[in-house]
Amino acid sequence: MRVFPANAEIDESVHGFHVRTQKDPLTISPTASFREESMATASEIAAVGVIGAGQMGSGIAQLAAAAGCAVLLLDADSAALTRAVASISASLRRLAAKGQLSQVRRVDLPSYYPTQIGPGHSVKDAAEAFPSDKFWVRLVFQAACEDSIKRIRCVSTVQDLREADLVIEAIVENEHVKKKLFVELDKITKPSAILASNTSSISITRLASATKRPSQVIGMHFFNPPPIMRLIEIIRGADTSDEVFAAVKSFSERLGKTVICSQDYPGFIVNRILMPLINEAFWALYTGVATKEDIDTGMKLGTNHPMGPLQLADFIGLDVCLSVLRVLHNGLGDNKYSPCPLLVQYVDAGRLGKKRGVGVYSYGQKSSNVKPKSSL
Ligand code: 3HC
Repeated sequence: MRVFPANAEIDESVHGFHVRTQKDPLTISPTASFREESMATASEIAAVGVIGAGQMGSGIAQLAAAAGCAVLLLDADSAALTRAVASISASLRRLAAKGQLSQVRRVDLPSYYPTQIGPGHSVKDAAEAFPSDKFWVRLVFQAACEDSIKRIRCVSTVQDLREADLVIEAIVENEHVKKKLFVELDKITKPSAILASNTSSISITRLASATKRPSQVIGMHFFNPPPIMRLIEIIRGADTSDEVFAAVKSFSERLGKTVICSQDYPGFIVNRILMPLINEAFWALYTGVATKEDIDTGMKLGTNHPMGPLQLADFIGLDVCLSVLRVLHNGLGDNKYSPCPLLVQYVDAGRLGKKRGVGVYSYGQKSSNVKPKSSL
């Protein structure tokens, strides 16, 4: 099976296939050598492994299940899995109650549903079949949502991911730990499986180099909260094949997301721009330009951001922001990415943001023994 990007020119005349992407002639792949063994296309990606049952992993699992995939959600911590399933169920039920069709795509309806809507129809079909009957539409959403929840199986070892067509890891943002995981995944997953990382900034090329299938390794960067945010940033490593890129792009679109594509440079697109903004907000706070509230209100009302940068940093996790800034600083070698000392001190103090109950703001939990100063 061969999949080419929609805008590719194909020339079979010399040395097999050449793929030229018209939009970006600089990213011409070498003579594409396609594996004998067939790789799953987006519509063939039936089983998705998600590693890490934190906020990102559970959101990704929810999206894949709602799109009709069988999901294997892996975490060594069983309490994290329990929390993830509870939050996925609550999130799906919330979306179902609001009738948000885009999140829940396919459903096999029970036999007591009217005959014109049957197994395999989409929720959209059902809503169109009963445009004025809110009762049926609500029932269809509920069935779709329960159906999605049933498609998620919690597992605790990497061996359980043998059958996955696509594995997306959303574990701790640490290159060494991620590389070890990729080595293991490379050994146990089927040869055709695509291995994706939800890393915020770590090099996909380096993660891929830990495996014997670098052409099948790719970055799929989701945004928090994944069920709500409309974007997936796809990162091509140096060896990611056109075939894998095309499959992951259309799979992301199947999840209802808009896709942007980044080359593999530190911070990719969004964090390259977002993290300096957050860092600058910390500098403004650190140097006493304004209070945290005024900095956030300024950006919310003055530039229409849904959250101010300091609140957003708490929401993302101050440790994650610091780690991305360090990747930018080291990788691009420019001091403009040097993390603000106040951000470093907050992280040292364990004030990691919302997940810890305290960051720039307090979320109901007091950090009694640490009081980083917010001015020089
Ligand atoms: N599942 C289902 N629905 C959810 C949900 C979830 N997990 N989380 C929120 N919602 C829904 C709520 O039910 C609500 O729906 P309604 O408007 O119909 O009632 C809606 O989303 C808005 O939620 P809230 O009312 O609770 O709160 P807000 O209006 O403040 O919205 C927010 C929350 C969507 C998070 C918004 O504040 C926002 O867009 N913030 C910015 C988020 C952002 O920038 N994320 C990207 C961070 S960067 C990143 O992730 C990359 C990484 O690498 C660092």
